[in-house]
Amino acid sequence: MALLELTNVHTYYGQIHALKGISLTVDQGEIVTLIGSNGAGKSTTLRTISGLLTPRQGQVTLAGRRIDRVPPHTIVNLGISQSPEGRRIFPRLTVLENLEMGAYIHSTHSPEFRADLDRVMTLFPRLRERVKQKGGTLSGGEQQMLAIGRALMARPKVLLLDEPSMGLAPVIVEQIFDIIKDINQQGTTILLVEQNALMALAIAHRGYVLQSGKIVLEDTAASLQSNEMVQKAYLGLD
Ligand SMILES: Nc1ncnc2c1ncn2[C@@H]1O[C@H](COP(=O)(O)OP(=O)(O)OP(=O)(O)O)[C@@H](O)[C@H]1O
Ligand SMILES: [Mg+2]
Repeated sequence: MALLELTNVHTYYGQIHALKGISLTVDQGEIVTLIGSNGAGKSTTLRTISGLLTPRQGQVTLAGRRIDRVPPHTIVNLGISQSPEGRRIFPRLTVLENLEMGAYIHSTHSPEFRADLDRVMTLFPRLRERVKQKGGTLSGGEQQMLAIGRALMARPKVLLLDEPSMGLAPVIVEQIFDIIKDINQQGTTILLVEQNALMALAIAHRGYVLQSGKIVLEDTAASLQSNEMVQKAYLGLD
């Protein structure tokens, strides 16, 4: 059984039919990437999984349990957390306070909290150096690290990442992608949304290509990298 599964999911914004029958699976231990251009429906897919949007048709399951009518905070408790697009951290809160917000499912006095904090700081040493700094004064790359770190504080089984490379210099993107790989190797399953198909396919096991609310292609990351349509449309190769 897949850890996360979407079956024929249709999501609307009022009259706008944003997801037109999305089906995908993410198995335990995988990094799966969802690639596609602006407006394809990538963020909508993640918002539907995390319960911020309710599909009009179709279903979402986590380890076989229906979650498509479950409120977002319960979905976090069940083991899915999201690092949203545009790294929406709390700018006036410190790094530590931002991480505490991510850990709201267990007490910040608990040994679990300390252990999780230590794990995040070990993954992102830059955050350890800046625990008392306000989120809004971090660099773009550091804010992205904080957004991922905050999502990890909820101890997710599945981590949803929405464009972690957005607006960052290539060297920072590489650092962040290395850490995403580490997080996966430490046991967290990842669904990675990216416009940077090159980077995403380099670390993913499998991928799906989304166009206008539909999955048009799915394959192993290696096959997608050598696929002519993917190369032309998403890798900038002719
Ligand atoms: N709040 C909203 N209200 C109405 N339409 C929306 C809303 N959010 C997204 N849409 C529409 O839904 C479609 C999918 O948007 P979505 O944000 O999921 O795309 P995306 O693949 O994440 O794009 P990007 O790469 O630009 O982030 C787009 O046509 C978009 O205009
Ligand atoms: Mg998006």
